[in-house]
Amino acid sequence: MLTGKHILLGITGGIAAYKTANLASMLVKLHADVHVIMTKNAQKIISPVVFEALTGNKVVDDVFDRDSGYPVAHIAMAHEADVVMIAPASANMIAKLANGIADDMLSTTMLAVTAPVYVVPAMNTYMLEHAATQANIEKIRSYGYHVVEPASGYLACGDTGKGKMPEADVLLEYILYAAAYEKDLSGKKVLITAGPTKEPLDPVRFLTNHSTGKMGYALANNAVRRGAQVVLVTGPVRLPLPLYAQVIQVTTAQEMYEAVDAHYDEQDIVVMSAAVADYRPKYTSEEKIKKKDGAAVLELERTKDILGSMSERKGGRFLCGFSMETEHMLENSKAKLERKNLDMIVANSLRMEGAGFGTDTNIITIITKDQVRELPKMSKDEAAKEVFDQILTFLH
Ligand code: CTP
Repeated sequence: MLTGKHILLGITGGIAAYKTANLASMLVKLHADVHVIMTKNAQKIISPVVFEALTGNKVVDDVFDRDSGYPVAHIAMAHEADVVMIAPASANMIAKLANGIADDMLSTTMLAVTAPVYVVPAMNTYMLEHAATQANIEKIRSYGYHVVEPASGYLACGDTGKGKMPEADVLLEYILYAAAYEKDLSGKKVLITAGPTKEPLDPVRFLTNHSTGKMGYALANNAVRRGAQVVLVTGPVRLPLPLYAQVIQVTTAQEMYEAVDAHYDEQDIVVMSAAVADYRPKYTSEEKIKKKDGAAVLELERTKDILGSMSERKGGRFLCGFSMETEHMLENSKAKLERKNLDMIVANSLRMEGAGFGTDTNIITIITKDQVRELPKMSKDEAAKEVFDQILTFLH
């Protein structure tokens, strides 16, 4: 995803520096060329050897280092970067950035950077909330730096509050947003549904399915990274929320219907990847549940077919459904494409290993009115990219 991209990581002296090793490793796995500049204090927390081993590139910490591999390291490293992230960014480094101070390798390089810069403050809550730090954060924002909101929680100093560095997977998402794709969905409004629905039987129990939301969230992330304005309507899942998307959390099929209905008209593309329950209990209070021979008789009724009812007012928008089948995948999916008046359906078989619920991979077949494209096993991120690549061929 990041092949050919130069990512520059700046690391300052905060305990959270250890998390940046994980981020560097994730970036390398996505084929980025990762370069690291550390301050002297950062090296008291974590050894540069860790980053050199992970990235295969020498960590530079001194403007006058004659072995940096560059004739003028701070200028060369600034210019080759496609995106820069300073994580953790100490109060001291933020103050330097705010005031144009260039007295170490990182702050000097930063004055020459023209690529997008993400600054990730991580420090004690009082230091973060100090008027000086807040003013400096405002100042660097006004220079065009993106400041990543610190998380709240237990801090290394023993206090609990705001100032924690977000986890590496969250930071990675900012870098992917900045560098992974052309913004070929820019200006497009995309609504995606994801996850299962939960249909209550009574105040304690519910009917649901095995969907973990991974495919839908991969779709939302892909669309955001490509510049779309995304609304994600999600059933209950345990996944980090996509950056920059409007997220609407719902529980039941009816709530999902209402959320989709409310946002449908302004969309250009709608992708229904949610595993919506086809049936829900007819009664949700115990008194109404019928008993037969001492056992409860579960009466079910159909939920509203969200996709079906949206396609009745399809207009010019692109409608894509998903179908998960246990048998006759192609025939059933083609029939759904027709029946629900869709532009595209993405089929996957529950019988194939590496496809379906819970896995990080999927094996999808993209079906349109006149084409069937069977794709090999790939990550859900890659599958999401394929889905939007295919949709884009219809929009041009
Ligand atoms: N879907 C929907 N509303 C429902 C059920 C499904 O919008 N109440 C959507 C799903 O999100 C998916 C597509 O319809 O995009 C196909 O879902 P699936 O459950 O496979 O199809 P059904 O129409 O429910 O048909 P069946 O259960 O008979 O296979």
